[in-house]
Amino acid sequence: MYFSSFLALLLSFFISPILGAVTWSATPFNPPSVPLAVRSPYLSAWLAQGAGTALNADWPTFWTGSIVGWAGYAKVDGVAYNWMGNPAVPNVTVTKATQKSLQFTSTQSVFVMTAGPVDITITFLSPIEPTDLVNQSLPLSYYAISAAANDGKSHSVQVYADISAEWVSGDNNLLVNWSTSTGDVLTHAVQLANQTGFTEINDRIQQGAAYHSTLGTPGTTYQTGQDIVVRAQFINNGTLANTQDINFRAVSNNWPVFAFAHDLGTVSSASDPVVFSVGHARDPVLQYVIVNNAIQNRSSYFWTRYASIGDAISAFLKDYSNALARANAFDAQVEADAKKVSDDYASIVALSIRQGFGATEITVSKNSDGSFDTSNALTFMKEISSSGNVNTVDVIFPSWPLFLYTSPEIGKQLLLPLLEYQMSGQYPNKWCTHDMGPHYPNATGHNDGKDEPMPVEESGNMIIMALSYTQKTKDLSLIKTYFELLDQWTQFLISDSLIPANQLSTDDFAGSLPNQTNLAIKGIVGIKAMSQIALLVGDNGRASNYSSIADTYAKQWQSLAVSSDGSHLTLSYGDSGSWGLAYNLYADKLLGLNVFPSSIYALQTSWYSSRNNPFGVPLDTRHTYTKSDWQIWTAGIATSNSVRDQFVSAVKAYAADAKNKVPLGDLYESKDGTWVPNTGRARPVVGGHLALLALQSAPTSVASPTGTPTGSSGSAGSSPTTVTSSGINPGSTNGAHRGGDVLFNVLGALAVCIGLSR
Ligand SMILES: *[C@@H]1O[C@H](CO)[C@@H](O)[C@H](O)[C@H]1NC(C)=O
Ligand SMILES: *[C@@H]1O[C@H](CO)[C@@H](O)[C@H](O)[C@H]1NC(C)=O
Ligand SMILES: *[C@@H]1O[C@H](CO)[C@@H](O)[C@H](O)[C@H]1NC(C)=O
Ligand SMILES: *[C@@H]1O[C@H](CO)[C@@H](O)[C@H](O)[C@H]1NC(C)=O
Ligand SMILES: *[C@@H]1O[C@H](CO)[C@@H](O)[C@H](O)[C@H]1NC(C)=O
Ligand SMILES: *[C@@H]1O[C@H](CO)[C@@H](O)[C@H](O)[C@H]1NC(C)=O
Ligand SMILES: *[C@@H]1O[C@H](CO)[C@@H](O)[C@H](O)[C@H]1NC(C)=O
Ligand SMILES: *[C@@H]1O[C@H](CO)[C@@H](O)[C@H](O)[C@H]1NC(C)=O
Ligand SMILES: *[C@@H]1O[C@H](CO)[C@@H](O)[C@H](O)[C@H]1NC(C)=O
Repeated sequence: MYFSSFLALLLSFFISPILGAVTWSATPFNPPSVPLAVRSPYLSAWLAQGAGTALNADWPTFWTGSIVGWAGYAKVDGVAYNWMGNPAVPNVTVTKATQKSLQFTSTQSVFVMTAGPVDITITFLSPIEPTDLVNQSLPLSYYAISAAANDGKSHSVQVYADISAEWVSGDNNLLVNWSTSTGDVLTHAVQLANQTGFTEINDRIQQGAAYHSTLGTPGTTYQTGQDIVVRAQFINNGTLANTQDINFRAVSNNWPVFAFAHDLGTVSSASDPVVFSVGHARDPVLQYVIVNNAIQNRSSYFWTRYASIGDAISAFLKDYSNALARANAFDAQVEADAKKVSDDYASIVALSIRQGFGATEITVSKNSDGSFDTSNALTFMKEISSSGNVNTVDVIFPSWPLFLYTSPEIGKQLLLPLLEYQMSGQYPNKWCTHDMGPHYPNATGHNDGKDEPMPVEESGNMIIMALSYTQKTKDLSLIKTYFELLDQWTQFLISDSLIPANQLSTDDFAGSLPNQTNLAIKGIVGIKAMSQIALLVGDNGRASNYSSIADTYAKQWQSLAVSSDGSHLTLSYGDSGSWGLAYNLYADKLLGLNVFPSSIYALQTSWYSSRNNPFGVPLDTRHTYTKSDWQIWTAGIATSNSVRDQFVSAVKAYAADAKNKVPLGDLYESKDGTWVPNTGRARPVVGGHLALLALQSAPTSVASPTGTPTGSSGSAGSSPTTVTSSGINPGSTNGAHRGGDVLFNVLGALAVCIGLSR
């Protein structure tokens, strides 16, 4: 006790010059960038931190770092305070509020700002509601403001907030127009005057509109106009003029802003919150290639419930208190599950969930009569901050644990575009494509086959995710519908995964390499996974063939992959001095396949225990940088809790080290905890931080076609799963066979179907 608090004191002494700027309490820690409104690739507002930036010390930014104007003021007994953004308004007197605290959970970032005798609490809530596709697809985010006296007295309080037109374009010289609607809900809508569909400037979509809305409670006023004019009006008066500036102009031409003010009246104990929303919506959201190279426009899923964006905003705002209750329940569940690992783990997970979902959009197509085809919901993901590719397989794959834990249905919807497109026969390669299109929101495919080639990587990923989805949901439709395609990719894996040709893995920034040990693991797990898929659809011949191929490969692989002194797996065959994070073993464990023996898990656990730099284990021996997502995956294969926790604490140390100011970057230096400049930030791959949560409900073993558990050389610290009854109809088992084999096959299929998912 004494020792550790002495150590803490020492540490804080040495670290304080770096952390010195953070004067508020941060729970669980002060992250590199605080999510404020993060719900889609184009609704993505953050507060960059670095050594610590208060809510009113700088402007919020889009994930790229470009400013999205968003300002907040309050008047307390006639004195004006600025609590958000960093505006300069001439000829007025404004006091900066003092940030007292910041707390983040999976869905919320909550700031308390002291404005003289009153504490103002601002709750930024970006809902995560994946069980309701409409709710999850709404490109809207809440913020709610309440006030409470901090001196036990009563005070007169008015609050104000505005957004600028920077929310609608990556070019501030472009012309915008706007309008305001009033009633029980007030909404300012602002849009580019010249819209170009499916087009980006600096990662900002040049289409659709931004919406700033609030509930029209008594004492609500609004105004649009030049920033310094509108803000001065509130600062001087505490109310807005209920007027509209209709001199439409460029974003940066006398900066038009879109403002609301509320009179909270006399405040002593915490006031009821006043509720606002910010959003960015467009229609159609993206274009998608279907059969015969036809292009289909797709719309946000929320249109299936709401006839207009106004209806959607109204329902959203009026549901705030329920949405907050649902969010609190979600946060509590995630936290309780994650704390079974550790507090550090819970804090990383909480920072990752909005970022993961924030790269996705759930879509529907229209029937010829204009109605929506809800039977074909597809989810699209932007490869944020790297290429901008659509539904990149090796970006969905690292983020898979997020979807498996929160919504396997959305996981399936992410796979479907890739499966539908490649089933259409337009993609020419025998392996799986890298992505659905070169740049979001164009999911237009690669009919020339010239996508970034990662053949073993993507083929293995798809088969692994298809089985993972099936295990979790017991829904066989995906593997039945796309069986031939999955089988085609398996043929490729059989030919190229024991001795992988010179190629890229997902870690393309590290370069290509022949005979990658970790890539071979992926391919072999993929083949084994296909044997389970075959078993589930009743194709016992393929099931036993692929199972024995995978087992044979796994044995041969061991003789190729282990260093000459037997101490670790190499990075590539024969290079005994090399090693890397063998994170693909996680898939073996997640699926309960146990195609690799427990001795390999133990070997790597021991190896990593002595390869830890201050901020983690390097990705591989080519560089000292590492990946946060793959470290947590690797934590998942550790056979000891201390090595698991070593990985978790390293990622936490990086996330909390106050050296970075971008939405959590996944590639960073393991020696000093700095993000690698100009690499991935705000990427959905942080969904991989849920890898340990996804394992909590993973199967511990599966059955082979002969009915015996696989991995007879010893499974990775697991015991056989208990087989219970199931709703799955085993009738698909090959009827031509009779006798013991069939019984075993049925039992095997049952074990797979039931044992594997909770
Ligand atoms: C601020 O005050 C100065 C001096 O009175 C005046 O020249 C200037 O126009 C004022 N600016 C604004 C924006 O009102
Ligand atoms: C979705 O949002 C509506 C309000 O718009 C709410 O009534 C409903 O409970 C939400 N559904 C879920 C599953 O959270
Ligand atoms: C505003 O711009 C949109 C296109 O983005 C256009 O349809 C609309 O007519 C414009 N409104 C006004 C009032 O100019
Ligand atoms: C609208 O934008 C397109 C694409 O940027 C451009 O070619 C066109 O000239 C613009 N039209 C107007 C009226 O500004
Ligand atoms: C798809 O949407 C774009 C942009 O709104 C539009 O120009 C195009 O005509 C639409 N295509 C179809 C097939 O509806
Ligand atoms: C999407 O494709 C359209 C052509 O259909 C093109 O004009 C646009 O620039 C593309 N968008 C991106 C982000 O590449
Ligand atoms: C404050 O606003 C109210 C309502 O718009 C108006 O009647 C009053 O004249 C304003 N006072 C000042 C000082 O601007
Ligand atoms: C890959 O490994 C195999 C087996 O050790 C070896 O025969 C082959 O030469 C290696 N390929 C390359 C390109 O190094
Ligand atoms: C097993 O699968 C491989 C690869 O598709 C194939 O070449 C081989 O003939 C199959 N063996 C049996 C016994 O079906």
